Amino acid sequence: MSYKTVRSQTLFQEAQRYLAGGVGSGTRAPSSGWVPSPVYVDHGEGSHIWDVDGNEYIDYLVGGGPLILGHRPQPVIDQVCHTIQQRGSLFSLAHDLEIEASRKICQLLPSIQKIRFDNSGTSAVQRAFRLARAYTRKTKIIRFEGHYHGWADQIHWSNRPPLEAAGRRNAPRPIPNSNGIPEILAETLIVLPWNDIDLLEKTIKSRKNEIACVITEPILGNLGGIMPKPGFLQAMRQLTQENDIVLIFDEVLTGFRVALNCAQGLFKIKPDLTTLAKAIAGGFPAAAIGGNDEIMSLISCGDVMYGGTYNSNPVVTSAVAATLYELEKPGQYERMNALGEKLANGLVEIAQRLGHPACWSGVGAMFQLWFCPPEELPTDYRSAVPILKSSPYAKFWKGLIQRGILVQPRQDNLFLLSCAHTEADIQAALSAAEFAIKEI
Ligand SMILES: Cc1ncc(COP(=O)(O)O)c(C=O)c1O
Repeated sequence: MSYKTVRSQTLFQEAQRYLAGGVGSGTRAPSSGWVPSPVYVDHGEGSHIWDVDGNEYIDYLVGGGPLILGHRPQPVIDQVCHTIQQRGSLFSLAHDLEIEASRKICQLLPSIQKIRFDNSGTSAVQRAFRLARAYTRKTKIIRFEGHYHGWADQIHWSNRPPLEAAGRRNAPRPIPNSNGIPEILAETLIVLPWNDIDLLEKTIKSRKNEIACVITEPILGNLGGIMPKPGFLQAMRQLTQENDIVLIFDEVLTGFRVALNCAQGLFKIKPDLTTLAKAIAGGFPAAAIGGNDEIMSLISCGDVMYGGTYNSNPVVTSAVAATLYELEKPGQYERMNALGEKLANGLVEIAQRLGHPACWSGVGAMFQLWFCPPEELPTDYRSAVPILKSSPYAKFWKGLIQRGILVQPRQDNLFLLSCAHTEADIQAALSAAEFAIKEI
């Protein structure tokens, strides 16, 4: 093992002189587990990435989700370069590329009849709330503990609340996730534990006149890929439909990652609104909100303001279309999910053989290894807390990164795959894991 971090550490020292905290996002900081320093990337290619110290990694982080085709996918890069060189990077005017990209998404997702583009998942989620409130003429949002829907003031609550402050499980108190978020916004939120049909039903029935929308990650990707209990999302769909409440699937992470028709296709549910980002543009900063004609017509008629200088720009809309053409090639998801399952099953087998309780959650393309017996696999945030606190994941991660396997550092993150991953990548990760788990 010849793992070095000297140059990354030097760059981190330098970065701290100018960049707040030395990083561009908190998820890349030592406080998120990147010790001794963030990894400073030199370049990526396919499923591999190289850092400034010359370390080569197999990348199971894939930019947090967007790199669904791996690093520098040729068809997407070619299309984007062609657009920039032949046409331009920004018009803030209408153009044909946005039509092609929006047509593709509407064709692939039956719940989406109309779409608008945006630039980040956080921003698309804000649009969804405005639409839901305008449509229902109600205000409150039901959100679930442990989910992440971006960093904006009105929703960045109760993502990882300290349990001593968060109140009873049956009636969680909304807890802001950052200083600077106005306390008064708590009045617009109803926080619930996920995967609890009875509590959702009780809450909706008793407060339906206040509730504009329910927002959920359909698979809890921001908490280790916890799956919905059978019937939970279906019940959510029925309850919202019967009570004039907009159902928002936040598919920023799951969209075009878990399947070509996203998580809503896997669970055969049509939400009213869907937020998309990450994988839709293969590494370029596109996001979108889509939904049925009735709700989206509020934008068309001008009742709901929807602006943005960079929306639908030619760079990202080229990237969306080129990415989706690649993703719809036969066998892409079958292959990626099968490789991911092989890795997940292999990790569990190794951990159990070496004497650790282990199981995995999620689907092949996004999953997590949990160091607990399958019967203790968490179903919501509160059942995950004791496991998060006692997990040996940080040591496991250290063993992996030192052997060239790059993954997010925390138990509540995920292993993410791309269509560029190969059988050899899986075998290499399993060999590294054998050593890493022995070192726990
Ligand atoms: C489910 C979900 N929603 C929203 C967001 C926010 O997206 P962005 O980081 O593009 O603002 C994320 C980001 O990780 C996410 O996973």
